[in-house]
Amino acid sequence: MDHTQAPVLEALRRFQDQGELSFTPPGHKQARGADPEARAILGDAVYRSDLLASGGLDDRRMTGNVLKRAEELMADAVHAEHTFFTTCGSSLSVKAAMLAVAGPNEQLVVGRDVHKSVVSGLILAGIEPVWVDPQWDGEQRLAHAPAPEAFEEALERHPEAKGALVTSPTPYGSCTGLDRIAEILHARGLPLIVDEAWGAHLPFHPDLPSWAMDAGADVCVTSVHKMGSGLEQGSVFHLQGELIDPETLQSRADLFGTTSPSVLIYAGLDAWRRQMALQGEQLLDEALRLAAAVRGEIEKIPGLHVLGYDDLVGTGRGADFDPLPVVIDISALGTTGYRAADWLRREHRVAMHLADHRRISAQLTYADSAATTDPLLDALRDLADHAGELAAGVPDFVVPTGPEMRMEQVVRPRDAYFGPSEPVPVERATGRVSVEMITPYPPGIPAVLPGERLTEPVLDYLRTGLEAGMNLPDAADPELRTIRVRR
Ligand SMILES: Cc1ncc(COP(=O)(O)O)c(C=O)c1O
Repeated sequence: MDHTQAPVLEALRRFQDQGELSFTPPGHKQARGADPEARAILGDAVYRSDLLASGGLDDRRMTGNVLKRAEELMADAVHAEHTFFTTCGSSLSVKAAMLAVAGPNEQLVVGRDVHKSVVSGLILAGIEPVWVDPQWDGEQRLAHAPAPEAFEEALERHPEAKGALVTSPTPYGSCTGLDRIAEILHARGLPLIVDEAWGAHLPFHPDLPSWAMDAGADVCVTSVHKMGSGLEQGSVFHLQGELIDPETLQSRADLFGTTSPSVLIYAGLDAWRRQMALQGEQLLDEALRLAAAVRGEIEKIPGLHVLGYDDLVGTGRGADFDPLPVVIDISALGTTGYRAADWLRREHRVAMHLADHRRISAQLTYADSAATTDPLLDALRDLADHAGELAAGVPDFVVPTGPEMRMEQVVRPRDAYFGPSEPVPVERATGRVSVEMITPYPPGIPAVLPGERLTEPVLDYLRTGLEAGMNLPDAADPELRTIRVRR
């Protein structure tokens, strides 16, 4: 296929050149009606490219196939059979993929380290999860994606399961053995869904971990705004093989999607595919070289350690790792990742991605260069110089071991979520069944799920974590004085 084409961008240009008059949404009418300050801050280009997909970008019945052609080019670029664009993030795509595999009261084998959007999918569809434990590194207190054998074992225990879902890479860059998991599923004639929200770039460089379609997955979901250069909310899902019907997948996505998709987001997806198809390897080559240099420099800073191959790969860990998320263990500074991240933003205007009890991470992409990583390194050196200040008065933070983090699922997520509930003081919640999802964010992996029986170690972790700076945006009581439980 001709990857110099970008059907969405080309259609946008045509629309703008023709000076068409719209008597349709959006009501700002190519910026004319927009708030003047918004025009000044966003720029009119944003409004001029914000138009209806059908009856704007394309004709009323989409006979120009603008979106379809852009999706076909994306599928070709990543060696998938079908690709679908969505404008509500991988949070939508992953739900569509799950519902294409399992329906109400059916079982799906799912890693317990999934993103909260997967749990929302379980609740909405009434799918029964068969949980597979991640691999826990007890020393680092870090979860890696579940091992292939754990999926095999779960499928043996639950032969009626309709398929499986695994997250790889994890937000920490750890990747599991996808080819082996795909084999295990396919030996039983079942499909594998991969939540590859963090892996948009993987198909475009041979030195990066292998990615879901090449590893044999049936459907995979990717956030192009995370490691690619799409606009926020730009997500795609890719499909191959005979186990999932493309029409079914499209129909499930339609259940969740908007009837007013953002053409801006489509344009970001289309342009990124062209950039990757034409220049991806070269751009990622430079990014990988930069990441190696930055990792080396951070390692020289006293008190900082960058998680690399030895920390992320091996028995009980991942099968491979992506070096672009630069995850830094700062525990030797005697402080928490939350404090360190807040300090870096306040003192240096440097925003880190993840922050947890002992780590921060800097996500590098091919958009970075020495112009961005030099100030990052200066800020990290200054962070180490301020270790004393950052360590003073750090609240006690009780981080459980992996097995202590796992609670028993005693009621299905949907039944607990929609069932009768009451708030109870957190000190009296042990032994009760949660109806809430409680999620440290980022990365957005729920610590508590609806239907799980609450335990002391997890409640202590959340309570003390909150005091230490953990962010729990979805808790019904953000201060966690109470928690909603099944009545
Ligand atoms: C593993 C994983 N899956 C899915 C999502 C949802 O992606 P999005 O933010 O594009 O909706 C995220 C978001 O952080 C994620 O980390």
